[in-house]
Amino acid sequence: MMSGISNLRLIGAALATALYLLLLVTTVWRVRREARRREHEAAELAMSVGDSASWLVVYASQTGTAEELARRTANALHTVGLSAQLISIEQLDAATLRHTTRALFVASTTGEGDPPDGGALFMRRVMDAPHALGGLQYGVLALGDRDYRNFCAFGRTLDEWLHTQGATRLFTRVEASNTDPAALSQWRTHLMDITGTDELPEWLPPRFDEWQLVQRELLNPGSAGAPMYDLRLAPADHSARPDWQAGDLAQITPPGDESRPRDFSIASLPSEGHLRLLVRVAQRDDGSQGLCSGWLCTQLALGDAVPLRVRSNRSFRQGDNAPRPWILIGNGTGIAGLRAHLQARAQQSDTRNWLLFGERNAAYDAVLDAELQVWEQNGVLTSLDRVYSRDPPRRVYVQDRLRECAVELRQWVDEGAAIYVCGSLDGMGSGVAAVLEEVLGTHTLAELLANGRYRRDVY
Ligand SMILES: Cc1cc2nc3c(=O)[nH]c(=O)nc-3n(C[C@H](O)[C@H](O)[C@H](O)COP(=O)(O)OP(=O)(O)OC[C@H]3O[C@@H](n4cnc5c(N)ncnc54)[C@H](O)[C@@H]3O)c2cc1C
Ligand SMILES: Cc1cc2nc3c(=O)[nH]c(=O)nc-3n(C[C@H](O)[C@H](O)[C@H](O)COP(=O)(O)O)c2cc1C
Repeated sequence: MMSGISNLRLIGAALATALYLLLLVTTVWRVRREARRREHEAAELAMSVGDSASWLVVYASQTGTAEELARRTANALHTVGLSAQLISIEQLDAATLRHTTRALFVASTTGEGDPPDGGALFMRRVMDAPHALGGLQYGVLALGDRDYRNFCAFGRTLDEWLHTQGATRLFTRVEASNTDPAALSQWRTHLMDITGTDELPEWLPPRFDEWQLVQRELLNPGSAGAPMYDLRLAPADHSARPDWQAGDLAQITPPGDESRPRDFSIASLPSEGHLRLLVRVAQRDDGSQGLCSGWLCTQLALGDAVPLRVRSNRSFRQGDNAPRPWILIGNGTGIAGLRAHLQARAQQSDTRNWLLFGERNAAYDAVLDAELQVWEQNGVLTSLDRVYSRDPPRRVYVQDRLRECAVELRQWVDEGAAIYVCGSLDGMGSGVAAVLEEVLGTHTLAELLANGRYRRDVY
């Protein structure tokens, strides 16, 4: 009997070792395949941009606006018969840049004057060292918002850096606050000048469709924080079949401030039959309600029209992370973006997901509690860590819990985990980034970012 058990143990140990080796081999194979793919893409890119008739259109974008404008720029060049290659800034290496003769950069700024994630990688990998760019002619469209202290900081840094490396400006940098139409029209005029054409199509403002509010529910009655609402919307045109992916954003123009649409993380998938948003009523310094959130949550009636467009937000999508374990981290309304991902993960087989979520009080702020519990019971959530900063015995924020879980965090990342962070930039986003750097090291975190394994939707 005893020898039967020890035989079984031996077989078990052998199987575990074999599985471990298999995992190791497939991981090494995947990493090598990815490296080969990148080398191949870089070589192709270097060849195509060496062609003096072609343009390289580069975007540095966090939430997709710069990407959208760069795509429009490349399309505009195509319409007048020019060849233009569109790439994200993290795909641009020093060799490609040295071989490029004409480039247009559309670069946004995020955080507190920070580059978008892809821009940060470009700064580390390329801008760190001097390069001879005497053969390059370029133009920069810097996107930002004048309400921020460091207006267009990254676009300005990029422009100055290119100039210092010997590259020639084709025109003075264009700076756009909130995609100001006058600035975009100036960009278009420059494009016509440098390409010698007067045929470039007009830049039409993005189209907002009419949606309707179909359901609204207060999620945190009694909360010490501002009210958070669960809103469900559907297209007014019932035959429309809007499409999006987990990680994408809904942009809404509130009445009274049409020139500055507000973004919201989409909390649902199209297959659920509605577009769901979790909106907190913003409070201004003078105590009044935020314009858009106040309107959506307290003024709009069921059935009322909402001008809305869905924006793809590639930097927070699933990408090729489906087979990996996921660590999802967020606070407050950040649960919206994480929920859409969890819903997608629930429909995939064999996933491991660890959710760390922070709010104020368990009694009032356990938002989406029933759904999270179901996911915990049926195994979609391997681990559910909720922390409440206002509950005794002590103030614990999500970044504190992450630090307490340093061993598990390292283990998950060693096993290939991807990290998704959604919610406030101040406090949570920056605090989580600091703990990740402290626990995993600057190099590993930069690698995770470079490989799309560290993704953020923080605002
Ligand atoms: C990528 C992204 C995703 C987001 N996802 C979500 C989400 O899922 N859920 C969510 O609730 N929010 C989300 N937001 C935030 C959202 O877009 C809005 O910023 C938020 O709802 C506040 O907008 P508002 O119009 O209500 O407030 P506003 O009226 O714009 O006021 C907001 C702040 O601006 C200042 N301000 C502006 N105008 C005045 C004025 N006249 N007087 C005084 N102060 C003023 C104040 O500091 C005020 O607190 C997201 C933002 C981004 C960028
Ligand atoms: C969280 C956040 C932080 C931002 N910080 C700045 C900033 O420091 N300076 C600035 O000029 N614009 C700032 N902006 C405005 C963006 O640059 C602007 O909205 C831009 O159009 C976004 O482009 P993207 O979608 O390509 O990232 C910020 C926007 C967000 C959402």
